Amino acid sequence: MPKIFVTRKIPEAGIRKLKEAGYEVEVNPEDRVLKKEELNKQIKQVKPDAVLALLTDKLDADVFEVASAQKPSVKIFANMAVGFDNVDLEAAKKAGIMVTNTPGVLTDTVAEHTFALMLAIAHRISEADRFARAGQFKGWEPMMLLGTDLSYKTVGILGLGRIGSRVAYHAVKGFNAKVIYYDVKRNEEFEREFGARFCMAPEEVLREADFVSIHVPLLPTTHHLINAERLLMMKPTAYLVNTSRGPVIDEEALADALKAGVIKGAAIDVFENEPAIHPELLKLDNIILTPHIASATEETRAKMAELAAENIIAALSGKEPPNLVK
Ligand code: GLV
Repeated sequence: MPKIFVTRKIPEAGIRKLKEAGYEVEVNPEDRVLKKEELNKQIKQVKPDAVLALLTDKLDADVFEVASAQKPSVKIFANMAVGFDNVDLEAAKKAGIMVTNTPGVLTDTVAEHTFALMLAIAHRISEADRFARAGQFKGWEPMMLLGTDLSYKTVGILGLGRIGSRVAYHAVKGFNAKVIYYDVKRNEEFEREFGARFCMAPEEVLREADFVSIHVPLLPTTHHLINAERLLMMKPTAYLVNTSRGPVIDEEALADALKAGVIKGAAIDVFENEPAIHPELLKLDNIILTPHIASATEETRAKMAELAAENIIAALSGKEPPNLVK
């Protein structure tokens, strides 16, 4: 009976699918991230045919070496995430092990969370909540906690993949916003449909947008895409939102920019050195911080677990998995 190792407790829907396919499923009994040596040890002990992994697992050359050294080799690492910057794809290829991700099923949820952040920072929701709980509300005031409208503003999208496009859709359809975007690939059909404008460089987006929302994958070319110099290009009235990957922003530069009023505010779900958060960011009122939960709804996490399971089932049935990362 094929064996599957799941690196941490995931929604039952995914486990059920694997069991229904006739597999033996072993889940890391401790609800925490396994250290690399622990993961390697588990692979050696369990001798799985497939591993269902998470974005918190660092899948590097050592792990793939251990996974391919056992007989028979682990065939697939199914990452339960759309991002796969935790995976050394070259090493996986060298070891002859497939890697898959879970795109599509989380698009709407991450786009919703992006708007939750955008609206929360513009309408000062967290700050207002702290104010109310502290007993500071003494009655309606004409000048109290004034925020900023999103409607009819310019929303700048960096990275027009599935999630970036969905955010653009909501901005246009829901808020009558104007959308400008930068991506390595231009999408003229999208421009026609949403009246969006392509920018030749990220700097053009940064200079013009009232809200900048980041949706790029983490690559050497996107590391610190937002740094001190680029923050200075933004309007002092603008907001920055990030639901992609933390290292896309230089967190120290962001803290400095928020303190100095270089930009008005930021709302971020991802951090440069997760789970650590730059201590200066924690002190600021003009930033909202959520702990990497943009895809964290019951429905979506269940779908992600199921999709990771489907990728494993396809691979172990000798088929190409639907979400093979090439
Ligand atoms: C979450 O960050 C994901 O990549 O799915």
